Amino acid sequence: MADLRIDALAGADGLTGAETLSFTFDGRACSGYAGETLAAALFANGARIFRTMPRTGRPRGGFCFAGRCSDCQVRVDGVPNVMACVTPLRDGMRVETQHGVGVWGEREGGDR
Ligand code: FES
Repeated sequence: MADLRIDALAGADGLTGAETLSFTFDGRACSGYAGETLAAALFANGARIFRTMPRTGRPRGGFCFAGRCSDCQVRVDGVPNVMACVTPLRDGMRVETQHGVGVWGEREGGDR
């Protein structure tokens, strides 16, 4: 995925020189920086849809970016309902679009 960060602002947000982290979103290789949120890294990698609504299937890609609305919920390493806007990016995260309500059961290692 392309890096959509604004280079001119890279120093202003304190990420210059930060460790580069790798993760996947729906199987696609992505990268971000230590210290940024998962939502910021997803946006920087071109992702705009994080979840779909349970009844209508309408897409959501975040709204408040403050941990209040739940529009940014994704699955992380098989765990549903992770709010990307308040979750720090970690190296090796396997992030997936969440379709409908969060369902447990696909967690690695067979945990339910
Ligand atoms: S965008 Fe509203 S809770 Fe994350």
